[in-house]
Amino acid sequence: TAGLLVDRYGRVARDLRVSLTDKCNLRCTYCMPAEGLPWLAGPELLTDAEVIRLIRVAVQRLGVTEVRFTGGEPLIRPGLAGIVAATAELRPRPRLSLTTNGIGLDRLAPTLRAAGLDRVNVSLDTLDADRFHRLTRRPRLDAVLAGLAGAAAAGLTPVKINSVLLRGVNDDEAPALLRYALAHGYQLRFIEQMPLDAQHGWDRATMVTAAEILAALRAEFDLRPDPTVRGAAPAETWLVDAGPARVGVIGSVTRPFCGDCDRTRLTADGQVRACLFATEESDLRGALRAGADDDEVARRWRTAMWGKRAGHGIDDPSFLQPARPMSAIGG
Ligand code: GTP
Ligand code: 5AD
Ligand code: SF4
Repeated sequence: TAGLLVDRYGRVARDLRVSLTDKCNLRCTYCMPAEGLPWLAGPELLTDAEVIRLIRVAVQRLGVTEVRFTGGEPLIRPGLAGIVAATAELRPRPRLSLTTNGIGLDRLAPTLRAAGLDRVNVSLDTLDADRFHRLTRRPRLDAVLAGLAGAAAAGLTPVKINSVLLRGVNDDEAPALLRYALAHGYQLRFIEQMPLDAQHGWDRATMVTAAEILAALRAEFDLRPDPTVRGAAPAETWLVDAGPARVGVIGSVTRPFCGDCDRTRLTADGQVRACLFATEESDLRGALRAGADDDEVARRWRTAMWGKRAGHGIDDPSFLQPARPMSAIGG
């Protein structure tokens, strides 16, 4: 029953993204409304044991070699360190990473490092405290900066920063964010905003594009194409001022990388998504709770990936946003 997660276009999913909660302690305006969203109910969430079992099936039967924990905000999941530790004990040992908003990371980083986490990506869109408050609706800039420092000190490296630029809000900050990242040894990546917000407010006309971001950076920095192999990484990278420091742009909309995609996703309620933009999900939680054995779970997961579409389809006239917003998929 060995068998990789192959789709009909020949792509192989080796990178599993596991959402551990749909909740978050920030309220970024481009992600969710001020009042939050109707969160998943407790019994709908996979238990820690169910999460660990599905990761084990992915790693031991389906060829997954990278596991990334996401949310919502994964640091607010009580069982996080135990899930990380159980994943790190699997053989072959997958590489382990986490995508977080950074709040509480200064305190948690040593524990997560000891549990086996390899590295973290932290979201940070602005270095201005007032802007941060307006953008995330919470006054927590200092907590995020402390989280970044704590991650680096604990060896969760390379520490990467993800920044989304919004027109008229923080689109003048690209060079300042890069200066900050360079000064602290963090790897900065800018992300084009995608149509995945709960409010359906995404507008291609106002989206800050990869080309604009690169032009803004080039006004202050020398950028050269990075000679290292990109592989399936969403980020295209450039050497800054001849390197070794790099900056990345994740241009999902204007420079899509779907042809090289190697990702499969598991939501906090146990649904497999073949793509961030998939409109269909496969219910592994139901299978687990109905008593499916590992073979059956693996079979369902492979079937789910076979249905993966060639690309996100954002440019199709018939494009529809997936029913779940980014915060419930895990980015
Ligand atoms: P690294 O391994 O550190 O490069 O991680 P990553 O960039 O894949 O993960 P991260 O969670 O930091 O995601 C950064 C941004 O890339 C987020 O906005 C994600 O939604 C986006 N992203 C990750 N995977 C995909 C994908 O398969 N498709 C698209 N379109 N965007 C993705
Ligand atoms: N488009 C692009 N990136 C987004 N993020 C959240 N919502 C969107 C969106 N609609 C970012 C977060 C975080 C990363 C995981 O995804 O800011 O850095
Ligand atoms: Fe939370 Fe991330 Fe959404 Fe911001 S973008 S509200 S940090 S889930």
